[in-house]
Amino acid sequence: MNERFYITGFAGKKKLEGVIPVSGAKNAVLKAMAATILFKGKVELTNVPEIEDALRMLDLLKELGAEVDGENGKYTIDTGGVSSGNLATDISKKLRASIVLSGPLLSRFGKVSFPHPGGCVIGARPIDLFLDGFEKMGALVSVENDGERARYVIKAPKGGLRGAEIFFRSQSVTGTETFMMAGVLAKGDTIIKNAALEPEIYDLAQFLNSAGAKIEGAGTPTIKIKGMGLLSARKKYVTPPDRIEAGSFLILVALCGKDVTVSNCEPAHLESLIEILCYSGIDLIVGKNFIRVKNDVKKGGKNKIRAVNLKTHEYPGFPTDLQAPMSVYLTQAVGESQVFETIFEGRLNYLESLVRMGANITIMDPHRAIVRGPTPLVGKELESPDLRAGLAFVIAAIVAKGDSVIHNVYNIDRGYEKIEERLSEIGVSITRITG
Ligand code: EPU
Repeated sequence: MNERFYITGFAGKKKLEGVIPVSGAKNAVLKAMAATILFKGKVELTNVPEIEDALRMLDLLKELGAEVDGENGKYTIDTGGVSSGNLATDISKKLRASIVLSGPLLSRFGKVSFPHPGGCVIGARPIDLFLDGFEKMGALVSVENDGERARYVIKAPKGGLRGAEIFFRSQSVTGTETFMMAGVLAKGDTIIKNAALEPEIYDLAQFLNSAGAKIEGAGTPTIKIKGMGLLSARKKYVTPPDRIEAGSFLILVALCGKDVTVSNCEPAHLESLIEILCYSGIDLIVGKNFIRVKNDVKKGGKNKIRAVNLKTHEYPGFPTDLQAPMSVYLTQAVGESQVFETIFEGRLNYLESLVRMGANITIMDPHRAIVRGPTPLVGKELESPDLRAGLAFVIAAIVAKGDSVIHNVYNIDRGYEKIEERLSEIGVSITRITG
């Protein structure tokens, strides 16, 4: 089905008003879903965003034999019926997060097989750290040919995975989560060094610890996991707010907001963005669980924001997932900004579309670009290339003069729940067209 968004832009005017609440975090709940493999009995998950990736993860669990019930953000998962760890190719191909199932499945069943995971096309996205880590835990890794992509078959040693010391050559979010979960059912202690520090990792550790796991140091570079049996204590998970969605809303309202409050968010997870926006001249009122942007519209709604250099970095640095929305922002800032995407080598391709909309951007190489502003943007027909760049196009279309059509909205639905309804609430002119 060719679904697309039709957006009428504000030509740079600041018009949005109201309150926009943030949904549960995609990159947290997907890992909590994978973690249900480590539990005996039913687990309840709430504040689950109704997004494509979450629904596909539930499908993947069902295909494995799990019983999944629920709707409207509340689900129960019982993995009692799962007896093996062969991940379905068609779903895993769509979802990078499918890889995090490999840790709990291998540690529980002694064997897992999965195709090279899919997800957003933003770079090579290798899985060498996963394969090396499993070998360190005593597993045997082999690669089979599964049609168009490789299928990995991993077998634990007799007696199960062994705790190990795993040093990540580069920090990996899903890698850290996978080995944290593998360690829960391994024999002995697992130590992850140079672990990623993203809040979703701390959240996952808290969830597992609340159910009886013994994980120390999550949120620091060294995490220690004590091997034990299946978890059976507290079985409730509340999905925390999505910091990337909150950040994207904040960028949008910094550009087009008259007076908007981004509510149900966790400002402590957004410090790098808050710092950059404030430096660039945006007035923010930061509360305990909200951020309000009140732009001065008396000056004819003219942008008074200044250019700022952007370098993506592992948490607590500037998130790569906010690089695309922030680059749209920089097209409206006065002066020259450098954008340095350090994490993924395919995450600047969308900039060509912003140039078609009128932005003055020079792409230096796959990691670096220079944005000169402010330049008025004009509405265009655009193809959403991936989740985060897709939302950046929505923001660009709202800032632009005239109408835009954004195709391939599946890529946006993967991570943002009913985005057109929620943006309409604060005054955006956006319609979903089906057929
Ligand atoms: N890397 C390797 N080898 C590996 C794994 C990673 O070289 O085995 C490299 C990657 O190529 C990349 C770097 O390590 O250069 C960091 O990648 P990481 O593994 O941290 O990324 P990820 O775990 O695949 C998660 C999020 C991404 C987010 C990144 C960075 C999930 C499901 N995905 O990906 O989210 O951009 O961390 O913060 O948690 C998104 O939500 O749109 C998204 C892409």
